[in-house]
Amino acid sequence: MSSDPRSTPNQAAPRRRAVLVLGASRGIGAAICRRLLADGHRVVGAARHFTGKSSTPSSDPDSNPNFSAVTLDLADLDGLPARLQELQAAHPDIDTLVCCAGQGRFGGLEEFSFDQIRGLMDLNFLAHAFAARVFLPAFKRRGAGQLVFIASEAALAGRQKGAVYCASKFALRGFAQALREECARSGVRVTVVHPGMVRTNFFDGLDFAPGEEETHALQPEDVAAAVALAIAAPQRMVVDEILLSPLKRVVQFKKP
Ligand SMILES: NC(=O)c1ccc[n+]([C@@H]2O[C@H](COP(=O)([O-])OP(=O)(O)OC[C@H]3O[C@@H](n4cnc5c(N)ncnc54)[C@H](OP(=O)(O)O)[C@@H]3O)[C@@H](O)[C@H]2O)c1
Repeated sequence: MSSDPRSTPNQAAPRRRAVLVLGASRGIGAAICRRLLADGHRVVGAARHFTGKSSTPSSDPDSNPNFSAVTLDLADLDGLPARLQELQAAHPDIDTLVCCAGQGRFGGLEEFSFDQIRGLMDLNFLAHAFAARVFLPAFKRRGAGQLVFIASEAALAGRQKGAVYCASKFALRGFAQALREECARSGVRVTVVHPGMVRTNFFDGLDFAPGEEETHALQPEDVAAAVALAIAAPQRMVVDEILLSPLKRVVQFKKP
C-alpha cells in the first residue's frame, strides 16, 4: 500500500459534467443550475418559461456559454419521449440528470378532480420516470452517469391533505431506490434529495407557506449545495438520500 498522500483517490479532480436539469426556470432548479455552473459544469436547463428574472440561471444562453435553456412541457407525456430523445441527440454528452420539476397541490382527496390527480402524478413522477428511461441506457453504455431526484420530506411520511402529492413523491423515491440497485453495476449513481419547506414560488397558489423567519425555511441554494455534494462525491461512493429540514418547522396559513 502506498503511503504517498498524493495517491489517495480523493485527490482526483472532479469530473466536469454535462447536466440536464428539469425544472430549471426558477426556485430550486434554477439554484441548482447556478451552483453547477459555478462548479464548472455544463448545464442544459428545461422548463416551460424562461422569463429572464434574476432567479433564472440565464434566459439568454449567450450570456453564459455553459448554459442552454430548452423549452419543454413535462406534463405533456404523450410528446415527452420524442422531445427528450431530441434533447439527448442535441446534447449527447449529458451524463447527469437532475429531476426537479414539480408542483404542489394539497387538499382532501375529494377536492381533487380525476384530471388533477393524474396531472400531479404525471408531472411529479411519470415525467421523471420517462426522462430516466430516455437517458439511462446511454449512461449505462458509458459506464458512468448520475440520476438525481428532488423528492420531498413528503416522500417519507404521508400527511393530511397531501395524499396525492405524497403519493407522487413516494413513487419517485421507490423508483429511485430500485434503480439504484439496478444501476450500480453499470457505474450509474442514483441520489434522492428530500427537502423540507424551501422558500420559493412553490407556495404561490397554496393556502400555506413557511413562517417568515429565516429559520422557518430552507433556501433553494441549500438544496443546490446538497445536489453539488452528491455530484462531487468520489465515484466509488453513492450519496443515496439526503434529508434537509429547516431548523424550525413553522407553517403559516394564508387568509382566504
Ligand atoms: N419549495 C418547497 O418547499 C419544496 C419542498 C420539497 C420539495 N420540493 C420540490 O422541489 C421541486 C422544485 O420546487 P420549487 O420549490 O423550486 O418550485 P417552483 O419555484 O414552483 O419551481 C418549479 C419548477 O418546475 C417547473 N415546472 C413546473 N411545471 C412544469 C412543466 N409542466 N414542465 C416543465 N417544467 C415545469 C417550473 O418551470 P415552468 O413553470 O417555467 O415550467 C419551475 O422551474 C418540486 O419537485 C417540488 O415538489 C419543493
